[in-house]
Amino acid sequence: MARLVFLICLFFFLPTVMSCDFLVLALQWPITYCRPPSNCRTGLPQSLTIRGLWPSTKFPPYPAHCVGKDLSLNMVTSIEDRLHNEWPSLNSGQSDFSFWEMEWNKHGKCSTDVFPDPLTYFSFALTKSRAADIMRVLDLNAIKPSQREIFSAVRIVSAIVNAGFGVPQLECNYLAYPSELREIRLCLHTNGTFMQRCPYNNLKIGCGLTLSWPLQ
Ligand SMILES: *[C@@H]1O[C@H](CO)[C@@H](O)[C@H](O)[C@H]1NC(C)=O
Repeated sequence: MARLVFLICLFFFLPTVMSCDFLVLALQWPITYCRPPSNCRTGLPQSLTIRGLWPSTKFPPYPAHCVGKDLSLNMVTSIEDRLHNEWPSLNSGQSDFSFWEMEWNKHGKCSTDVFPDPLTYFSFALTKSRAADIMRVLDLNAIKPSQREIFSAVRIVSAIVNAGFGVPQLECNYLAYPSELREIRLCLHTNGTFMQRCPYNNLKIGCGLTLSWPLQ
């Protein structure tokens, strides 16, 4: 009897593969990512670039560093040019491939219930980043990088919401005053549609009510 109970328990509590509730597409602004002490390359892109695509859960533990297939360049050759342009490493001394590999090892390997292989994972990020085209969304709302202008966080969020990409999570360099926009994170259902709101308690990390989006 005890053995039967044990077997039934084992059946119901067998650890399943790491699953995720939603996906976070993190976009970074190279200029502010590269503030000291970051050590960046020269000739940074003047556009939001992809930082990562993170499978996430509503509650901790957040998936990271799962066991899975290693990335090799030949798995993504068909999209390599786009990855170099849209998902570049900004760090001096780190190749683009090392950056992709780091992101794959930390996050991508935890998303195998959504993406069967690295090509699908990386392609998804490129497709969704282009579909949202946040630089354009903000530009259409007269929000663009500038040395002088200060934007209210609400205005930035509203522009993104009204374009149909949901309430994002913003991250800023808080040591600057006003805080400097560094990252915009969009949240997606695992079926690829944008969520109405990123399901985080804290939607503004380090950002004040106003922020700058500096050009240099
Ligand atoms: C995607 O999933 C969400 C949440 O389950 C659902 O509300 C939405 O209708 C789905 N969209 C599509 C296109 O399947």
